[in-house]
Formats: sequence, C-alpha cells, structure tokens
Amino acid sequence: MAELPYLGTDANGVVSLFVDGAPYIALGGEIHNSSSSNLDYMEEEVWPCVEQLHLDTLIVPLAWESVEPREGVYDFTLLDGLLSQARLHGCKLVLLWFGLWKNGESMYVPGWVKTDTKRFFRAMCVPGAPTQTVSPFCAAGIEADAKAFSAVMARLGETDTERTVILVQVENEVGLLSGERDRCEKAEAAYSQDIPEAMKDFAEASGSWAAAYGEDAPEYFMAYHYARALDAIAAAGKKEYNLPMYANAWLSQFPDRPGHHPSGGPVARVLPVWKACAPHLDFLAPDIYVSDFTAVCDAYTKDGGPLLVPEARRDPVTASNVFYALGHYNALGFAPFGIDAFLKEQEEPNAQLLEELNIDAQSFNCLGTAPFLEASYRLLREMKPLLLKYRGTKKLRSFIRRSNHDRGIILPMNGYDLQLTYKNVRFRKPESAGIVIEPEPGVILIAGCNVKAEILPKKGSDTYITPVSLQEGTFWQGEWIPCRVLNGDERGLSLLGDYAGAIRMEFSVSSL
Ligand code: DGJ
Repeated sequence: MAELPYLGTDANGVVSLFVDGAPYIALGGEIHNSSSSNLDYMEEEVWPCVEQLHLDTLIVPLAWESVEPREGVYDFTLLDGLLSQARLHGCKLVLLWFGLWKNGESMYVPGWVKTDTKRFFRAMCVPGAPTQTVSPFCAAGIEADAKAFSAVMARLGETDTERTVILVQVENEVGLLSGERDRCEKAEAAYSQDIPEAMKDFAEASGSWAAAYGEDAPEYFMAYHYARALDAIAAAGKKEYNLPMYANAWLSQFPDRPGHHPSGGPVARVLPVWKACAPHLDFLAPDIYVSDFTAVCDAYTKDGGPLLVPEARRDPVTASNVFYALGHYNALGFAPFGIDAFLKEQEEPNAQLLEELNIDAQSFNCLGTAPFLEASYRLLREMKPLLLKYRGTKKLRSFIRRSNHDRGIILPMNGYDLQLTYKNVRFRKPESAGIVIEPEPGVILIAGCNVKAEILPKKGSDTYITPVSLQEGTFWQGEWIPCRVLNGDERGLSLLGDYAGAIRMEFSVSSL
C-alpha cells in the first residue's frame, strides 16, 4: 500500500508535501462549487479541461448535505465516484469539505441541520436576530459536522489505498459575515469572560478581550472560536485517517473591517491565533484574488509556514504568478479557481455577485487565460524534477514584476550578474515572472514569461562575458530539450513572451 501523504522537510530543507514518499508540487485548479455534485457532469465537463490544461491535482468540494442527507445515514457515492474518476484520469485530489461553513455561511449543511435552528442555533450579528449561519458557539453543530467529516475520512482510509487524495481542506473561508462578532447568547457569555490561556501569548494585556486586543478584540475573539471549532473537526477526521489538512482564508481588503471579510477567518492579522489554537491544521492558505500577489504570499510564509494557493485569480496573470509561487515561495501547490470553466465560452462575470464577495471582477474573468495557463503548466510539469532538485538552494532563483513602474531586476549570481528586463504590461496578458536555474557554472536556464535576459560582468570586477550559445527549448522529465539555436539574426534573442517558454544560455566569465 502506498505511503500516506504527509508534510515534511525535503533534502534541501524545504517544507514539502510528500506524496508516495516523495516531495510533490501540485499544479492544480479548484473546480466551481457545484461541479462535483454530479459525476456525469464531472466526466463530461471537468475532466477534459483538467487534461487539456495539464493539471495534475484537482481541488474538489464534497458537501455535507450530499454525504449525510439523513442524520446518521451516509452516502459515499460522490466520494467513491470522484476517487475512481481521478484515478482514471491520473490526477490527485484535494478534498474540500463543505461542512458547517462555506464563505461564512451554512449553505451546505444537510436539510436536517438547516431546519433545526434550536439544536443548531445561529450566529447573530445583532442580539435576537439570527443569521443563516450556524454559530461557532454551537457545540452540537460542531459535533455533528465532526461526525460526518470523520465518516468521510474513515471511508477514505478504507478505500483510498492508492492515496489519490493528498490533502484535505476543512470548511471554506470561514468567519462571520456582516458583523464583527457573534452576539448570540452563548457568544455574549463567552465574550464577557477573560481571555483564555491560549490567547495570552499574543495579547497586549490579560483580562477582558477588549483589554487584551483593543479595537481588534471582536475579530480575535471570533478567530479563537472558529480556530477551535475547525481544530475539533480536523482532529476528529485525522483520528480516522491522518491526512494533512488546512483551512483557507477570504482575505481582508478595503474596507478592512471584520464582517466585510468573514470575521475570525484566518486572515494575516490573526494567523498567530489560528496557529496556536488549531494545531490539527497543518497550515493556513490564502485565496488570492487581489493584485498584490507577493504581499499576500509574504504574509502567509513569513514565519516559515508553507504556501498553498487553493484559489488563485483567473485572469492571465495567474499563468505568470504560478512561476513565482513555486520558484520563490516553494509553494506546495497553486490552483486557479473555477478551472472547469477555463475552456468554455466565457460570459462576463456576474459583477454584482463579485462585488458582494469583494472580488475584483478583473481577477475573476478567465477569458483568454486557458492557453497561457496551459503553456505554464505544461512547462512546469516537466520542470518538476529540476525544481525539486534545486529549490531551497542558491542555484534556483525567481523573479516577478511588482508594479507598472518595475523595469526589471539584476540578480547577483556567482561571478556575474543576470539582468532581467521586464516587458511592458499589456492588458489581459501574463506578467513578467519566472524561474532561473544554474545547473552548472556558465549555464543558466530561464523559464517563465515576458522577460529579456542578459549576462553582465559584476560591477567593478575586471571581468568580461563571452556568450557561447543561446537555445530555446523545453523540458521533459527534468531534462533540457533543445529547440532552435538562436544565432545570426536571432542572436541575443533571449526573450520570453506571453506564453511561458524556456531558454538556455551558455557563457564564460573571464578576467580582463
Ligand atoms: C471564494 C470561495 O472560496 C469559492 O468557493 C467561490 O465561492 C468564490 N469565492 C467565488 O465564486
């Protein structure tokens, strides 16, 4: 039987997801919320897209309402079917548990939970006015979710001998919408108490929530309780079948007011709370629709935590961001959202819905993205052995254009410099980003988009560079596969364009 997936450290010290005993990089996509509710739909509409875009990992929702339509009666038809489809298509799965909470609401709970508002009482933004969301103070709700989730994990443990499921997302973008904190009776009672022991390490003072966290008290309070709820659910699932698990975040954005983003969800500000109070979650992951990709990745990796982008924006820039996610942050994986729609005729995204979700419409428009993403994934898939060999060492570097004013970067290398000049941004095209690998002295491989490369002598070094050869090409199972040798009129065309590509530069550095 194949080894269980786990999080560990690779030979270069990089925190990695180990699958079948080896570090794994997920070139993924998350499907639309409803796609995995029907296996025929999956077969007809989703898997062809997965294959054409060269995905090797798919993030698929599994809804509590479909698993436990009547209390205590489980139906694993979808789970079993998704597993066998994934095997047939040679793809790994990340299972996304739509349980008590999805985007701050309780829309995927079974009917018997939806209708029993007494046992499964609701959160209140205003005292006495219940929302549709089961309160994180509702122990019966957490217990019922944990039971169903455990049943799913137990089923996986029995059936997934091939380890098709490599990771599990517990709930989706949790937190309370439309209010800073829950004001149901139980929540009010909890808020009137002093902060718990586990929260003292990152408090300004002991005592009440307000004394400890000032104006951020409601968000810290919610973060503590959501983290504990998810931890209980994850712990119950892991007890049955110990796969790595994570929770994802709806990011805080303008206006940065809890309730505008789900209050208490794992946004950057409250990550320490989540890490301390949800030890059964292996990491926390940002859904990145905002334009400042690197700032978000920095925030989620600053304490060494691994990065997974379970929902990435859908416009063409996603095809260049993936290079930086893998090259700079050693991401466990990258997954644009709604991947099953990328090859379909596109309608304009629903602007009103996106505004409600605080998603920038541009980031949601996948019109024209597919061929760019396909090129990036095809290249990166075959580069994986190289990435795994060199990441975490000085031989692998990465670059990304950070703003319209950013002209390029000079990367200091060993004995020479590499000048990377970014191309000007064009509307609805990938940006400049890529990965540089130096497999041996005097040879560099550059893979990515929209950049021109030039080797420079080090400043003030009394050396000069002799270009030896320039090739365009690609990779196959980690090996360089040359295409044209660029010489004559094409000499010096060390250029990569909108569609991800690769070049190999050979040169020598001599003393003057
Ligand atoms: C973020 C959520 O996590 C997804 O499930 C989805 O609802 C998108 N927003 C918007 O379609």
